[in-house]
Amino acid sequence: MSTARGVVVVALGLLSQGVLGGLYPGLSTANHTCSLSEPVLSCSNEAQPGLVDTCCAETFGGLVLQTQFWNTYTGLESQGQLLPKDSWTIHGLWPDFCNGSYTQYCDLKRQYDPFPSPNTTTGTPAGKPVKPWKGKPISDYLELFRKFDLLAFMEKHWTGLNQPSSTLWAHEFSKHATCFSTFDTECYGPAYAKHEEVVDFFTTVTTYYQALPTWRWLADGGIRPSNRTAYSVSDIRAALTSRFGKVPYVGCSGPRYNETAAGKGSLDRGQTVLSEMWYYYHVRGRVQRVDGVPVDATGSNTNCATSPHAVWYYERTPRSVAH
Ligand SMILES: *[C@@H]1O[C@H](CO)[C@@H](O)[C@H](O)[C@H]1NC(C)=O
Ligand SMILES: *[C@@H]1O[C@H](CO)[C@@H](O)[C@H](O)[C@H]1NC(C)=O
Ligand SMILES: *[C@@H]1O[C@H](CO)[C@@H](O)[C@H](O)[C@H]1NC(C)=O
Ligand SMILES: *[C@@H]1O[C@H](CO)[C@@H](O)[C@H](O)[C@H]1NC(C)=O
Ligand SMILES: *[C@@H]1O[C@H](CO)[C@@H](O)[C@H](O)[C@H]1NC(C)=O
Repeated sequence: MSTARGVVVVALGLLSQGVLGGLYPGLSTANHTCSLSEPVLSCSNEAQPGLVDTCCAETFGGLVLQTQFWNTYTGLESQGQLLPKDSWTIHGLWPDFCNGSYTQYCDLKRQYDPFPSPNTTTGTPAGKPVKPWKGKPISDYLELFRKFDLLAFMEKHWTGLNQPSSTLWAHEFSKHATCFSTFDTECYGPAYAKHEEVVDFFTTVTTYYQALPTWRWLADGGIRPSNRTAYSVSDIRAALTSRFGKVPYVGCSGPRYNETAAGKGSLDRGQTVLSEMWYYYHVRGRVQRVDGVPVDATGSNTNCATSPHAVWYYERTPRSVAH
């Protein structure tokens, strides 16, 4: 999944300094005992390389987004890939820069995405090419670490659309996890076991996700999937803000309101099919600690139509849902 985020993708000097491998080439594998100091809040003045151990505080992408999808089908139902009942699904956990812009594919040595999107690190021909991964699916690493419980949870809640879920997981890892300072492999010490941080990332994502029950929060606000009634994005936002504490980003896909029959003549070009939710945090210490401080979405907090009752929260196709 690639999503236009209305922000600038930045090419970083760091990425073009020759040696690839982690965000801070030359980082030692020594020390990094994060429990020895108070966790530093990401995006605070202290959270800078040179002032803190980059393995113990998020110094690169300190604005952390837990992102979720609402889809009505998977496209791979015949292979048993179904959506969880009464639950949104995981998109990922993204390290944006503190100013809301972001970069991607920060360590091409850890590129396991079979369908890189974009296909260069900057999304322009000037960036480094991100070559498609031709090896085994990333889920194999979970099996090697015998994390069958985590794999089962991910199969249930982290669902691909028109692609195997493991392709989405690999995409999320290589595109985003490599841009967190604390998932650099040096942080894991000299006895680092290859792919250990992949398991650690997936654990972190699922932990954040479990604290964000979008389906329930909306239902508690009287907003349930319906193919008969459209909702107002302001009501959707309010229902979630009252529970999360800060304003999330509400994402839509589908036709623009003024291109639908209901919106004919309107100037509202927002999209009309509810499909994503992004929750923003600053984090205390390494993101693996799952100690996030909710913050408001940066920039525009929706791309949905803002006219009253313009947004569809569609019911799922019954045969696409696991029971
Ligand atoms: C690790 O900590 C020890 C003890 O403080 C220090 O002597 C050493 O320089 C540190 N090593 C690195 C690579 O930071
Ligand atoms: C946002 O922050 C990043 C990282 O510090 C920086 O490279 C980029 O230039 C900033 N972008 C804007 C638009 O300020
Ligand atoms: C990226 O995709 C574009 C559009 O399909 C293509 O023209 C370009 O050659 C690709 N670049 C790389 C590095 O694969
Ligand atoms: C939708 O609204 C935009 C202005 O916001 C306008 O440029 C466009 O022509 C409109 N489209 C239709 C089909 O009315
Ligand atoms: C509701 O509408 C969506 C979008 O058209 C469709 O995919 C889904 O199957 C419908 N669900 C039901 C229960 O009719």
